[in-house]
Amino acid sequence: MDPHQENGNARHNNGVKKQKLASLISEEEIRDEFSHHSKQISRINNGSFGCCPKSIIKAQRKWQMRFLEQPDDFYFNTLKPSILTSRTLIKSLVNADHIDEISLVDNATTAAAIVLQHFAWKFNEGIYGKGDVVLMLHYAYGAVKKSMEAYVSRAGGHVIEVELPFPVNSNDEIVSAFRKALMRGKESGRRVRLAVIDHITSMPCVLIPIKELVKICREEGVEQVFVDAAHAIGCTNVDMKEIGADFYTSNLYKWFFCPPSVAFLYSKKSSCQLHHPVVSHEYGNGLAIESAWIGTRDYSCQFVVPSVLGFVNRFEGGIVGIMKRNHEAVVEMGKMLADAWDTHLGSPPEMCTSMVMVGLPACLGISSDLDTLKLRKHLRESFKVEVPIYFRPPKDGEVGCVTGYARISHQVYNRIEDYHVFRDAINKLVVDGVTCELLSN
Ligand SMILES: Cc1ncc(COP(=O)(O)O)c(C=O)c1O
Repeated sequence: MDPHQENGNARHNNGVKKQKLASLISEEEIRDEFSHHSKQISRINNGSFGCCPKSIIKAQRKWQMRFLEQPDDFYFNTLKPSILTSRTLIKSLVNADHIDEISLVDNATTAAAIVLQHFAWKFNEGIYGKGDVVLMLHYAYGAVKKSMEAYVSRAGGHVIEVELPFPVNSNDEIVSAFRKALMRGKESGRRVRLAVIDHITSMPCVLIPIKELVKICREEGVEQVFVDAAHAIGCTNVDMKEIGADFYTSNLYKWFFCPPSVAFLYSKKSSCQLHHPVVSHEYGNGLAIESAWIGTRDYSCQFVVPSVLGFVNRFEGGIVGIMKRNHEAVVEMGKMLADAWDTHLGSPPEMCTSMVMVGLPACLGISSDLDTLKLRKHLRESFKVEVPIYFRPPKDGEVGCVTGYARISHQVYNRIEDYHVFRDAINKLVVDGVTCELLSN
């Protein structure tokens, strides 16, 4: 896969015209946009909760006030057209065919519930047979795995996990593991009704060759494909026509500067009629309309998409330029840390986006998921670094290998000092002989 296509020179430029240098955001303005971030913490974990610039928070507040000033008028005259404006912008950003294909929902967890609920009904209504297969990656997000349990296994579906290697060296390794699992799924003539595939896995983070996997699904008769792309928009190229999935969701609050919490869910027009699990009087009017009213609540985060586009277009190259620079910076920082600790990256740079897995020194003795939490807490409390840690159990026969990886992110607010603080914190733990065994819960 060409990293420049994935992270940089994507075909879509969101209508970004050639920008005059004078109109570009300055370093000082960037600092001001994120001046509400705690100054005490080196936050190298944009991946978990994203970030929202001050100007967008201000725009959101304005929408909240408009609603509070006259809610009835807002409900009858402003709500739906404002959501439609945001959906229209997202539609062109992700190259979807039709506006009805784009719904705004709270987050990727909600999107997964919407899609998987649809499959639960197919099993419950006897349209699918008990034991029909649904496939997902072993590294699927925890909440999505639980949804699979709640909606699919409980309804009689047979869930198969695709074991992926980590560290990973090439897309071929992923493609081959996926094919193997798919063949297992099709054994004894079973029908594979759905494949749930991440675009960028969460932990460990790896950019998955999604186009290739969707193509394999089509060739092998998998009926439908749902892409969990919680991290994708603002982090990698997202093009519905190129990817060709039936359903695709990405959070807008993670890497696209929207406030918490909003995501889009794409549902191919020809695929089927999905329903929101929260039923309102809009039931039956199409998912986009159902999602635009799930009862009285604050919808303001859904209205600010036009402001967010204005924000990203203050950067050279717009969102594509941001992605490219974040990718280059996080790879550089990942290599700097791996060199300092004499470890390695969890995947080659072209399989990284704006996040990278960096091996931690083996002498830290990371030997369980609990250890990762203890180390993360220690880094936060004693060194003021916020970074998630992943435990990778040693394989048979492996001794003294790297068992812990940090997932570092880079977003426009990050500075090199953030990563130096992390480097020096780990170096100090190593010099002081601190191991996870010695850390408290
Ligand atoms: C791959 C993946 N799927 C789903 C989610 C859930 O996202 P949310 O908490 O916004 O629902 C995440 C969160 O990081 C994720 O990484």
